[in-house]
Amino acid sequence: MSAAAPAVPRLSVQGLCITYVGRDGERTEAVRDVSFDIADKPGVGEIVVFLGPSGCGKSTILKAVAGLLPPTKGTVLMDGTPVGPPGRDRGMVFQAYTSFAWLTVQQNVEYGLKLQGLPPKERRERAREVLQEVGLLEFAGRYPKDLSGGMKQRVAIARTLVNRPRVVLMDEPFGALDPQTRWGMQGLLLDVSRAEDNTILFVTHDVSEAVYLADTVYVLSARPARLLHRVDVPFFAERGVHLKSAPEFRAVEKKLLDMLYAPPAGSPAAAAGA
Ligand SMILES: Nc1ncnc2c1ncn2[C@@H]1O[C@H](COP(=O)(O)OP(=O)(O)O)[C@@H](O)[C@H]1O
Ligand SMILES: [Mg+2]
Repeated sequence: MSAAAPAVPRLSVQGLCITYVGRDGERTEAVRDVSFDIADKPGVGEIVVFLGPSGCGKSTILKAVAGLLPPTKGTVLMDGTPVGPPGRDRGMVFQAYTSFAWLTVQQNVEYGLKLQGLPPKERRERAREVLQEVGLLEFAGRYPKDLSGGMKQRVAIARTLVNRPRVVLMDEPFGALDPQTRWGMQGLLLDVSRAEDNTILFVTHDVSEAVYLADTVYVLSARPARLLHRVDVPFFAERGVHLKSAPEFRAVEKKLLDMLYAPPAGSPAAAAGA
């Protein structure tokens, strides 16, 4: 009997440091010594949220995972292999809408599959499957200009999902939406994540959004981003409209807020017990 080989994490980030160097040689340290592993849970979608203040280095971490930005120090491994340039295995969804204005919703979603050379029939079927998933099937023939902000962002999500990426990177994707729509999109993302077996890395500075979506939250410091805490969020079976005002939800929010705004250990404020 051979012992099972230790599982290789789907994503492993070790000792990640990123310092931007401007044209004038000015250095901005954005990320300092960030390490985390995200295991592959077979058959289960997982949402890992990076929560940190604006400007702390969240997007920078995500860009390194996407392969858009080389680490100054440290490694980013996917299935044990250093990540290369952006590829289909890591889909990205940004805050800004990224559809092609001259293509219909259906054509936008099929676009990536067309580039891959998938035959028209398969393209159409896969695109319709994903449009169904994000609730846009009846808008398949419309153009992006006819859609609301939330719907445009659903097109962006569909365009990413259609490639079946193993990791989806989402950078404050709902930040530009009004609260009502934002709530709806969060619910949609939970449904999608249950249906698709992929790992979602989701970046936000919104504590409530973090608690609502996450299986796991990594709390980041102000710039340069360091990992302060890892919090496993309890599973809320009921994700309806009342959850966000429920005591058990509020308790996790408070815990995260305290972590975000605690004075750094060793500071005068910490010593004074402030
Ligand atoms: N290309 C760049 N060149 C220089 N500094 C940058 C660049 N991109 C981001 N920064 C700086 O790095 C810090 C972290 O940025 P970012 O990762 O975008 O933060 P967040 O996404 O958490 O708001 C900020 O101070 C930002 O001004
Ligand atoms: Mg950002």
